[in-house]
Amino acid sequence: MLNGNAATIAALALTLLAPACGGNAPDAKGEAKTAAKPDAKTTAKADAKPDDKADGKADDKADDAVDDGAATPAAAWSWQLPTGIHTPPKVPDDNPMSAAKVELGHRLFMDKRLSVDGSRSCYSCHQNELGNADGRAKALGPGNKDLPRNSPTIWNVGLLSALYWDGRAADLEAQGLGALKGGNMGLGDGVEAKAAEIGALPEYADAFAKAFGLAPGTAITGKHVTQALSAYERTLLCGDTAHDRDAQDEAAKRGWALFSTTAGCITCHAQDNFTDGLFHRTGIGASEPAAEGADLGRGKISSNADENFMFRTPTLRNVARTAPYFHDGSVATLEEAVRIMAGGGVRDHGPVDANLLDRKLTDDQIADLVAFLKSLDCPGALEVIGDQKVDGIGGA
Ligand code: HEC
Ligand code: HEC
Repeated sequence: MLNGNAATIAALALTLLAPACGGNAPDAKGEAKTAAKPDAKTTAKADAKPDDKADGKADDKADDAVDDGAATPAAAWSWQLPTGIHTPPKVPDDNPMSAAKVELGHRLFMDKRLSVDGSRSCYSCHQNELGNADGRAKALGPGNKDLPRNSPTIWNVGLLSALYWDGRAADLEAQGLGALKGGNMGLGDGVEAKAAEIGALPEYADAFAKAFGLAPGTAITGKHVTQALSAYERTLLCGDTAHDRDAQDEAAKRGWALFSTTAGCITCHAQDNFTDGLFHRTGIGASEPAAEGADLGRGKISSNADENFMFRTPTLRNVARTAPYFHDGSVATLEEAVRIMAGGGVRDHGPVDANLLDRKLTDDQIADLVAFLKSLDCPGALEVIGDQKVDGIGGA
């Protein structure tokens, strides 16, 4: 169903969001979600089909780039934004979007060979069935290594101004390198060797050359890998939710009214992606800074003790599906998470953000807020390639 060579994101947006549009595509969704679809994958993704290229401007440009050795130009890319998303992701000057690069990034995102022991793809912890997270309180890395934080949803990461709960990565490219090197993919110093190894595989060599306008045989670097992953991630836009389409039920409408006024949520969960991109202390996971295992959050990155236990406001898109909640996965249900937020945060260890107050909501009002958050369910699904089963991580 996906023409990987389409020049614009229109095709991608359709793939990702088709189940939303008109709500008439349960089978498209089912298809996209079916984990083991090796042949769908080969037709849709693996080959660079030359005949499709005639209508694929980006591909033509990529070919030009091969010819003159210049970087792939961005001009051919046009964003088709889903309802509710008004601004496209920021694209770094040195990593322009192209259909070839997005397609390559998609394959890499789904490829377990990118991890140190072949046990994890990026998708392993950002799965459709688990809200594009992993359903665990804290992530489980290769070698079943326990990681310190909860996996966030992958939707709309291209819209975030700082990546990770503590905002330590300024863009997706930096985040991707972090994921490869750190506990998620476990490569450590082996990123460059891994990139060269993957880039030399017959099924990838042409795709890298095309995506980056490289002469055949050019060694692939970690930068190529993270740039392709990032281009793909920028296409993962979640809009067209019931809220965006003004198709919420009554409870969700009441919840939205509360959310945006008396409950004060929108102060921080602001704008299209329901985040202000700023760091706040909500008291979740707070302890004495010197306590063993304390996660200082932003304070550790900025080395500013005033920012200890501050975390970046997360998106609330798809939030009903990403239990458990918060950076430490400490809260099991959405209702409980809403109660904490509407109750003024956790105040056991020092002050919390001044915008977090006990709003004295009734149980019915909490239920309405939850109903509103459910109206933010993302309609799309990542197109899964290959077998994505992972021991210890559900779904797939
Ligand atoms: C073992 C599970 C795991 C794997 C594998 C994994 N991630 Fe993640 N991902 C996480 C966790 C946990 C975080 C949050 C970490 C933090 O904030 O310190 C995260 C955060 C992110 C974020 C930032 C989201 C945000 O809201 O700021 C992006 C983007 C992302 N991952 C993409 C990737 C990519 C690309 C790969 C493959 C190279 C990958 N992930 C592999 C668990 C994983
Ligand atoms: C002062 C800013 C602020 C306000 C006001 C605020 N939040 Fe949050 N919210 C945050 C931050 C920061 C986090 C992440 C905290 C953490 O994980 O440590 C968060 C996390 C959440 C989460 C968990 C998301 C996830 O993916 O784990 C939910 C749900 C939530 N907020 C809902 C609400 C609701 C509903 C309101 C209004 C009653 C609200 N918030 C008000 C800043 C705020």
